[in-house]
Amino acid sequence: MRESEPMTLDAKIPATIVWHNDQLKILDQRRLPGAVSYLEVTDLDAAWQAINTLAVRGAPAIGITAAYALVVAMRNTPDQRSVAQFLEDLNAAGTYLKTARPTAVNLAWAVDRVIAAASCEPSYVRIKSEAETIHAEDRRICRAIGEAGRGLITPHCRILTHCNAGSLAVSELGTATAPLYLNHAANVPFKVYVGETRPLLQGARLTAWELSQAGIDVTLICDSMAASLMAAGQIDLVIVGTDRVTGNGDVVNKIGTLNLAVLCHHFEVPFYVACPVSSYDPATPSGAEVVIEERDSSEILGDQAADVPVFNPAFDITPAALVSGIITDRGIARAPLADSLAELFQSGEG
Ligand code: MRU
Repeated sequence: MRESEPMTLDAKIPATIVWHNDQLKILDQRRLPGAVSYLEVTDLDAAWQAINTLAVRGAPAIGITAAYALVVAMRNTPDQRSVAQFLEDLNAAGTYLKTARPTAVNLAWAVDRVIAAASCEPSYVRIKSEAETIHAEDRRICRAIGEAGRGLITPHCRILTHCNAGSLAVSELGTATAPLYLNHAANVPFKVYVGETRPLLQGARLTAWELSQAGIDVTLICDSMAASLMAAGQIDLVIVGTDRVTGNGDVVNKIGTLNLAVLCHHFEVPFYVACPVSSYDPATPSGAEVVIEERDSSEILGDQAADVPVFNPAFDITPAALVSGIITDRGIARAPLADSLAELFQSGEG
């Protein structure tokens, strides 16, 4: 999307990633909604830390941050290096960044894209323009996902979402939230339930906040309330984001997504996933091959819980069979998802 195009989002939602005068700043999402503050990312280590500690989080946002972080890293290294040295330094920086978080494919996707651009033209200017293109494309893709998915929301529809696949995780319209923002802008009445998303409360702290900032009718629930709401016929549609969709259509997303998909199957509620091209990973055949990030026990224990062993996987895998459709910027993929996704994404190449 060009900067001059009108935006649907309420300007009260702060930008997640700011790239200005070759300086990278990221919104510190750990402090939301209490404080809106930005971290300056001045070197590679700062970027790694920001991604690893979830100062910046959400699959597309960590990809964009990684792309800019490579630019920052190369700006900080000596100018006089040879082409071979430039590429070696860039590759080393990319390899390091990829270790910050393993599950969202967007991180590796963005790093590989910047490195591929540099292999054609090994220069600071070229990698900078690639990172800026990735960022700009992301805005356009979110809008296209919104257009593809907006028809799923009928007047007075009650939608449940999980984690944060919104403006804060991406840019402007978000992915899972893009159909919501476009319908809201068109004055279609609907209601959104947001699961709080234990343990780090991305739903409560981020999604509930950004939707309410935009003036959308939003109600926060505990994750464990989804079943009783569906049993009572209070949910018409579930839309979530994703960190990776594998070749067969399995969906990797925030822990608790699988619970919702199983519930949807039981209660016959449509279960949709919004997926930008950067989250599609056809090279990985199925969810079984994806490394699921395990995070520190302190995220679950907090100050209150007993001192016991903790298991804290950040993501789960929803089998393709439980997915009603995958909303992409090129239309909605439906069963058989493997074929439908390949067709949609290939049709957009070039
Ligand atoms: O651990 P997080 O907060 O990075 O997890 C984020 C999610 O699971 C999102 O649903 C996903 O990244 C999609 S964001 C468009």
